[in-house]
Amino acid sequence: MNYEQALEKLAGAGQEHVLGYYDTLTTEQKETLLAEIEATDFKVLSSLKDRKDGDDRGVITPLAAMQLSQIREKEKEFRAKGLEAIRQGKVGAVLLAGGMGTRLGSDAPKGVYNIGITKDVYIFQRLIENLMDVVEEAEAFIPLYVMTSDKNHEATVSFLKEHDFFGYREEFVTFFMQEMAPACDYEGRVYMEEPWKISTSPNGNGGWYSSMFKWGVAQKAMEDGVELLNVFAVDNVLQRIADPCFVGAVIENNCAVGAKVVRKCAPDEKIGVICLEDGRPSIVEYYELTDELMNAKDENGDPAYSFGVILNYLFRIADLEKIRERNLPLHVVEKKIPHLDKDGRKVKPEEPNGYKFEQLVLDMIHELDSCLPFEIERNKEFAPIKNKTGIDSVESARRLCGENGIAL
Ligand code: UTP
Repeated sequence: MNYEQALEKLAGAGQEHVLGYYDTLTTEQKETLLAEIEATDFKVLSSLKDRKDGDDRGVITPLAAMQLSQIREKEKEFRAKGLEAIRQGKVGAVLLAGGMGTRLGSDAPKGVYNIGITKDVYIFQRLIENLMDVVEEAEAFIPLYVMTSDKNHEATVSFLKEHDFFGYREEFVTFFMQEMAPACDYEGRVYMEEPWKISTSPNGNGGWYSSMFKWGVAQKAMEDGVELLNVFAVDNVLQRIADPCFVGAVIENNCAVGAKVVRKCAPDEKIGVICLEDGRPSIVEYYELTDELMNAKDENGDPAYSFGVILNYLFRIADLEKIRERNLPLHVVEKKIPHLDKDGRKVKPEEPNGYKFEQLVLDMIHELDSCLPFEIERNKEFAPIKNKTGIDSVESARRLCGENGIAL
């Protein structure tokens, strides 16, 4: 793309200021900027104007979860089925590690955060140790696909290499990168990070499968016989990955996707709840949960919307393929966005100063025909690290690791 073409593209999106520093740049920087303008999808910015306030939801009704007592009854059968699928190489795991982890306040990838007390215990290490439990039980390695972003790819790959993948066999680990989206101020003007670089941020965790496909990683997985992908977040240091019992339950119930869920600890807990929307599986975010839904009861008199998702899903690739080309909704999120001020000085804001645009994995659930919510024991499998202190923090995760006999 040359200067004129770039200007035309920017003018169409009302973003001509992106070329404001052009005359001051070196030849190499000019090329970098023109290539970025060519690659950037400025259409996401129009979602600011089209923004709806969550009142466009369909009819919400309960979706029954498979509860712990039901799981225990069939645990042996599920586990055997899950282990069989793992041994046959049908199960892969996808670690979503492209996020910025801004709430934790570290510039490094979240997975390299050390939660140890008397020794080093990194978040990545905890996840791999959890996965190794299954590898040992199944006596078979599970392909692990790691999604990174432009902001943390190098740091993630080199950290895992330096630590010999914490004992995981390197040939079973594949990296791929997610897409980026421009970030803008409250008026919709994209910020500049450098005179030759637009401020961008990872475009949310919802694009994981299309990125996996773009990188040829999904095709390779299918060629290798992988049929099910367990997608999980980087921050839950207690989660079971490729849990044979969960895998077996999803296979036996023949669902397009399984979702690990926890019983909410309070009606207003900040966690998305699983439900049906217009008869299809869906997730209502905590801030969309009306008082009516919060207090609704099912036919047994129990709270109807009491199971929250923890970002641990088992997707069937055949069903993902059917929805790969579909556009997921874009969520506009208020964030702190580092940028250049009008005098070209770098600013690292203390407070949110604009928007970034994200697609979310939870919106994929609504695109699929059937979902099995699968209850887990909260204190044994749910220790997310979002913040340094308080709820869902390094502190709470350390306490839960202690309760589960994990030495830190
Ligand atoms: P969060 O919603 O906690 O976002 O991600 P985050 O970016 O990590 O953290 P904050 O909000 O800035 O503090 C949930 C999971 O989705 C991944 C994260 O790495 C985490 O595993 N994620 C999030 C991505 O892979 N890409 C994204 O663009 C966003």
